[in-house]
Amino acid sequence: MEKQSSKSLKILVTGAAGQIAYSFLPLLCSGEVFGKDVKIFLNLLDIPQQEEVLQGVVYELEDCGFPLLGGIMFKSNDHKDLFRGVDVAIFMGGSLRKPGMERRDLLEANVHIFREQGKILNENANPNCKILVVTNPVNTNCLILQQNCSNIPAKNFTCLSRLNLNRAKNQVKFIKLEKV
Ligand SMILES: NC(=O)c1ccc[n+]([C@@H]2O[C@H](COP(=O)([O-])OP(=O)(O)OC[C@H]3O[C@@H](n4cnc5c(N)ncnc54)[C@H](O)[C@@H]3O)[C@@H](O)[C@H]2O)c1
Repeated sequence: MEKQSSKSLKILVTGAAGQIAYSFLPLLCSGEVFGKDVKIFLNLLDIPQQEEVLQGVVYELEDCGFPLLGGIMFKSNDHKDLFRGVDVAIFMGGSLRKPGMERRDLLEANVHIFREQGKILNENANPNCKILVVTNPVNTNCLILQQNCSNIPAKNFTCLSRLNLNRAKNQVKFIKLEKV
């Protein structure tokens, strides 16, 4: 008989029909992220143009039969139900930098998204919600989100910047080697 878990987390993932989410969601549901004894209730968000893809992702997760996966709610608009009572919110959704696009254009495209989703998060999430931003530019998006969430402590917000850190470290390392 399967051991029942007493701990559970309600987790929002935006950009759930995207490539990063496709790799990440199985890890989340298999207990690799929060442990093998934490039940996961998933709230998945993407945009209307991705509705069919999102449905496909949900079917695949259901097919996997993850014992820790307690349920999935998914929508293709910023419906407040998806944000209600979430303990963890992972932001992977947003516009990608397209050819010819300046960094400033990407910022503008994502500012609106993070401002609006920040407001909904603020009004609906668990006030102790932990937030991780993956969408680039991560630092800016994370700051915009945090500034629109006065009900959630600023220390609860973080973003994935390890890639930039590793790149910077390697640049420094190789500059040093070139000089030797
Ligand atoms: N921080 C890091 O280390 C790191 C590493 C890799 C990728 N990224 C970033 O992660 C993000 C996702 O990458 P990807 O390869 O999965 O991109 P992707 O284009 O495959 O997925 C992005 C998804 O976001 C959705 N989306 C767009 N607007 C949305 C909105 N308003 N609400 C919800 N969803 C929305 C899109 O429809 C799409 O399905 C990108 O911004 C990318 O730059 C960050």
